Amino acid sequence: MTLPIYVQGAWFAGAALFIFGLKGMSSPASARKGIVIAGYGMLIAIAATFLIPGLKNLALMAVALAVGGAAAWISGQKVKMTDMPQMVAIYNGMGGGAAAAIAAIEFARGDAHSTVTTILAVLGALIGAVSFTGSCVAWAKLQGVLKKAIRLPAQNAVNVLLALNAVGLGAAMVVMAPAQPELILFFFAVSLILGLIVTLPIGGADMPVVISLFNAFTGLAVGFEGYVLGNPALIIAGIVVGAAGTLLTQLMAKAMNRPLSNILFTPLVASGGGEAISGSMKEVGAIDAAAMMRYASKVIIVPGYGMAVAHAQHKVWEMTEILEEAGVEVKFAIHPVAGRMPGHMNVLLAEAGVPYDKIFDLEEINGEFGQADVALIIGANDVVNPSARTDKASPIYGMPILNADQAQNVIVIKRGKGTGYSGVENALFYTDNCRMLYGDAQPMTGEIIQHLKTMG
Ligand code: TAP
Repeated sequence: MTLPIYVQGAWFAGAALFIFGLKGMSSPASARKGIVIAGYGMLIAIAATFLIPGLKNLALMAVALAVGGAAAWISGQKVKMTDMPQMVAIYNGMGGGAAAAIAAIEFARGDAHSTVTTILAVLGALIGAVSFTGSCVAWAKLQGVLKKAIRLPAQNAVNVLLALNAVGLGAAMVVMAPAQPELILFFFAVSLILGLIVTLPIGGADMPVVISLFNAFTGLAVGFEGYVLGNPALIIAGIVVGAAGTLLTQLMAKAMNRPLSNILFTPLVASGGGEAISGSMKEVGAIDAAAMMRYASKVIIVPGYGMAVAHAQHKVWEMTEILEEAGVEVKFAIHPVAGRMPGHMNVLLAEAGVPYDKIFDLEEINGEFGQADVALIIGANDVVNPSARTDKASPIYGMPILNADQAQNVIVIKRGKGTGYSGVENALFYTDNCRMLYGDAQPMTGEIIQHLKTMG
């Protein structure tokens, strides 16, 4: 069916807004605007769909929109910043599931499609189904519902066998099109199980990379199903998500210095790995920490997950302003996987009003730690663990880290002796130039501020 020009035009406008929105998201300064622009694009694309002449099931569509929209609105209002990765995982899974569901309807209808269209529908269904169950597992792990990495005996062989089965069944569906319902059901069952089995053994610090990979999968699946439905807005949205997800996956794998195949198929020792560390952690009080920074010429702040949990970013910026007024040069060093999602620290610091020219990426700032009088680590752990450089037995071996250990003095604000996300001890905390300031990041930074104010 040829669609009216106003529907096609509106879809085109929606797709263009997705691209402008994505462009906006490339910088923290314009990211919020980018999200809003992409949201308008989605609104236009959905509204235009209702204008297709002869559309059936309008009431069902309206109910689905109301239920989905309300659930997204409520969860979006309620979600804590620290729970955002789970939310991304589950939304992503919904996208993959929706793409697979579209394909399932097309197969069930048994309408004659060209071979190319059937191949794309099968590919979209396979990828979408894997992304759906895989993202559900990712959500369950990040939410703490599923606490253990479950690994089957001969896991990699099972993965390969299931993948070959899914591809074989998909090929049969193309050759026998229109496929029998049993074949369709079998194909979907194997694809859904594949997503589960591949994701269950992956644990710990690798989950964000997996979510990003499934995000790329969902994009591809949506793009393929957009082609099947003849919907350009879906095709463009899918391609944009697929490309962005693929790039992000590559960047994150690089930031952890692990090839993607290694992340997906090699078990990560979750805890207890690595060399024994000698020495002891040495405590410092807030007053001494304040003095060390007040009389320093250069301080580099390394924020991590703990700063996010404590919502300490506003206090951290207040402290920075006081130090700068006293003539101290202060910079922020951001590790690409600090926190629990890409850009986590950038978003929090931007929210607190920290200017972008004070925030530096790992490559930009790593050479400067040697000239810093103090490296102040606030709720960060794995991203400053020097064992990642040297200890081949450590699960985070090879991950590039911030060179905080090269500063003259290191002060670490954390609540106690807890390990970071990877579960390994941090050799930095035991070094001679490192002092621990135990406590929740927000009140501790508050105490430092109080002492700084008395130091004039
Ligand atoms: P982590 O290594 O997870 O360490 C965070 C530290 O913050 C913990 O040692 C904890 O110690 C402390 N902490 C927790 N709550 C605190 C609070 N209220 N006040 C003060 N300190 C608090 O964090 P990181 O250095 O940011 O590294 C991130 C890790 O997460 C990496 O391993 C990374 O691979 C992984 N990861 C990253 C992402 C992305 S994409 N960013 C997503 C998922 C996982 P105490 O318990 O002793 O306080």
